[in-house]
Amino acid sequence: MNRVTEVRHPLVQHKLGLLRDVTTNTHMFRQLVNELTLLLTYEATMDLATEDVEIETPLEHTTAQRISGKKVAICPILRAGMGMLDGVLSLISGARVGFIGLYRNEETLEPVEYYVKLPADIAARDVILLDPMLATGNSTAAAVARVKEAGATSIRLIALIAAPEGIERIHREHPEVHIVVAGIDRELNEKGYIVPGLGDAGDRLYGTK
Ligand code: URA
Repeated sequence: MNRVTEVRHPLVQHKLGLLRDVTTNTHMFRQLVNELTLLLTYEATMDLATEDVEIETPLEHTTAQRISGKKVAICPILRAGMGMLDGVLSLISGARVGFIGLYRNEETLEPVEYYVKLPADIAARDVILLDPMLATGNSTAAAVARVKEAGATSIRLIALIAAPEGIERIHREHPEVHIVVAGIDRELNEKGYIVPGLGDAGDRLYGTK
């Protein structure tokens, strides 16, 4: 399937430019991540199933649309994915939330799980994974594998910026995942940062540097 959507909408691109700017402070950065995630959620949920429902307006009877398919589970990848959670919840307030914590083993460079808590009925839900920076794709691919192991079959990934290497990795291992991003950047540098990128998303969200 190999679906990736780069959202070229002017509002998204404007906010992404502000987000990348090194002079953007922590407060602004958080707000921009929230707004961008909300806009990307709009795009990522474009194909949710709807059904007709009969309703009464104050004036007359009419046919309206309601989302019909599965319910949603939002799964931020810790820690930077947490900065995106409220953006999705502001549009899908009834969603359940799962958490996926991974760190990188510095010897093997492989992601290691340190905390995973997923909704019990995740198999029956549309899953939206949140990871602001899709860099090598190592941890994101592991997170996708984890939710699949729990039974999820419908999985979307929302990222703010992706490197071609990360997209390629997800496409190779999990071709059914629809990736929605605000920007696809040039490459990864020798330290594994996306360039031009925005730096370390976690540090910029939480002011830890
Ligand atoms: N994680 C980040 O926060 N930034 C990058 O550029 C790559 C991974």
